[in-house]
Order: sequence, then structure tokens, then C-alpha cells
Amino acid sequence: SQNIYILGIESSCDDTAASVIHNGKILSNVVAGQKIHEEFGGVVPELASRAHQQNIVPVVHQALKKANITKEQLNAVAFTRGPGLMGSLLVGTSFAKSLAYGLNIPLIDVNHMQAHILAHFIDEEGFEKPPFPFLAMTISGGHTQIVKVDSYFNMTVIGETIDDAVGEAFDKSGKILGLGYPAGPEIDKRAKLGNPKAFKFTKPKVEGLNFSFSGLKTAILYFIQREVKANPNFINDNLNDICTSIQYTIIGILIDKLKLASKQTGIKHIAIGGGVSANSGIRQALKNGEQKFGWTTYIPKFEFTTDNAAMIAIVGYLKYLEGNFAEQSVMASARLKI
Ligand code: KG4
Ligand code: ZN
Repeated sequence: SQNIYILGIESSCDDTAASVIHNGKILSNVVAGQKIHEEFGGVVPELASRAHQQNIVPVVHQALKKANITKEQLNAVAFTRGPGLMGSLLVGTSFAKSLAYGLNIPLIDVNHMQAHILAHFIDEEGFEKPPFPFLAMTISGGHTQIVKVDSYFNMTVIGETIDDAVGEAFDKSGKILGLGYPAGPEIDKRAKLGNPKAFKFTKPKVEGLNFSFSGLKTAILYFIQREVKANPNFINDNLNDICTSIQYTIIGILIDKLKLASKQTGIKHIAIGGGVSANSGIRQALKNGEQKFGWTTYIPKFEFTTDNAAMIAIVGYLKYLEGNFAEQSVMASARLKI
């Protein structure tokens, strides 16, 4: 039968990634992160695009090597067209175009946010694929969305953040506490050690299925400033409790909206994706929803949650099967919509 090899390339933010997929199965999944941003406490776009330019060829070379194929065996090249940082997207887009042109094979454009969702369709032992329709909550450093997914390429955003993304809520809270960037993983670790109700932060009041996280960040900032005035060691003395309380609040906000989305749509199949879905508290809360609300939940393998190219490759494969290719004139799009 078919024997399709697709190369996926991801360069939307600060990770340069390449992956080879054979039919639905991932053969390689290479990611080069960029340490350079840590000292600035956030991604510096100019530095990100420079690092992509340095990393892209070695990363693609590694992905082909690990997959044990030559570039001549590829059937198509898939790349992230957007959304993301323009300078970063341009590197992956231009490289993918050149490679497809040189090899005389189809070029496939991929929407990064669709890819976070369709990562659930990678063939992976022990991981179920969600049946249509399902709800997907994509939570990352750049995005917070609830999406109704009717088929691979028929998706509707039914809720999203009106200001900060949920990952920013983790990272900015961490910055206030003096934690390194990105702070999500450390807050997650400390949240296993503290009391979730030690400190109370009010949840934002946002109508419907939309989110808001900027008020929470400000509330945390004022709270910390006030407490530190009274006790200069407040952060150190209470770090685990503070982290646990912040994470508890954020998870509460996410689960409330998922509950509402499930109620409004009548859909009980719930999938998550994006860097923040690596959070162990969110994973647990979602699992608890199976008993509490009758949900069936889909949580991706850890390496397919944060930015990666395997998710780009699977979308490339699904589009390849439909003959859905891009023109060579296709342009990167920083604000590409689902
Ligand atoms: O998807 P991703 O790698 O990149 C974007 O597209 O943004 O997500 C990165 C975000 C960061 O904000 C990081 O703090 C957060 O994901 N993150 C976590 C965890 N691991 C990564 N947040 C909470 N808990 C985690 N375990
Ligand atoms: Zn992402």
C-alpha cells in the first residue's frame, strides 16, 4: 500500500524543530531549544530568528538521520506558516520552500494551532485518538483557546483569551517570584509540595467561554508587594504555598470554562494540547473530570505538548492524503487564524 514520508518543520517561536513521519508514525522528532532567552526572561524575537537560521539545517539533518532516510525519499515538506513571530516563521517557511523546490516535491503549509490539536492523531501506542466532534483546549505561552473540532480541518474557536495566554500567567507569576524563565515547569514542581488554599486569588469575571489572565497577574503582583513589605522573606518562607495557590487558581479557571463549553456544546470528549498541557495539575484535574462530569479525556504524550515538529508532520501527512498542497508563493502569516 502507501509508503509516505513527510518532513515537518516548526519555527514559530523559540524552538527549531524537525520531524519525519512515515504514514502516521513518527520516526524522528528533533527539537533545538534556545537557551539565549532565559537571561532576558522571555523570548527576544530578533535573537530567535537568528538562532533559527543557525539551527535549521543541523536540526533537519538530524531528523533525517534519526529516521534513517535520505532527503530524496521524502514525499513532501510541511512547515508552520503561522501564527507566530514573523522573523522566526520566515526562516522555516523559506527553508521549506527551497527544500521542496530543490527536491521537486509538494510543499504543505500548516497552522500551528491546528497542529497542537491534530498532534492527537499521531500513531502512538497507548494513546487513543479522539472521535469527532471533540473539544480541544490549546494552552501555551502564546495561546489559550477552546476549539470545537468537527473534522481534521473543520474547527471553530469557541473561546479564547482576551489578553494574556495561560502560559504567560505562569511565566509572569514566576517572574514576580524571582523564578527562572519559563516558570511553568518550576511552579508545577512546587505545586506538588504546597497548600492550594494557602492564598486566595480571585478568578477573573469573563463572560462566556473567553479567558482573561492579565488581572490575575496584577493581583499576584500587588499581593506579593504588600506581603513583602510586612515580611521581606515572605516569598522564600512561602514559595511552595504561593506556587500551589497560583496553579490551583489557574486550573480552576481552565476547568470552569471547559465545563461550560462541554455543557453548551453537549460534547464530552475533551482533548488538551500546547506547552501548558504538560502541567501535572491540569492533567490530574482533567482526569478527575472523567468521574465528575462524564468526560473522556485525551492527553498527549509529553513530547508532543510543547512546540515540536511531529505535530507539523502529522498535519502534513493528513493534508498530503487529501492532496492539499501549498503554492510556492505562500507567505508566512504571524496572525494566521484556525
Ligand atoms: O507550546 P509551548 O512550548 O510554546 C508556545 O507556543 O508558547 O508553551 C510554552 C509554555 C510556557 O509558558 C511554559 O511556562 C509553559 O508552556 N509550560 C508549563 C509547563 N511546561 C511548560 N506551564 C505549566 N506547567 C508546566 N509543567
Ligand atoms: Zn505552540
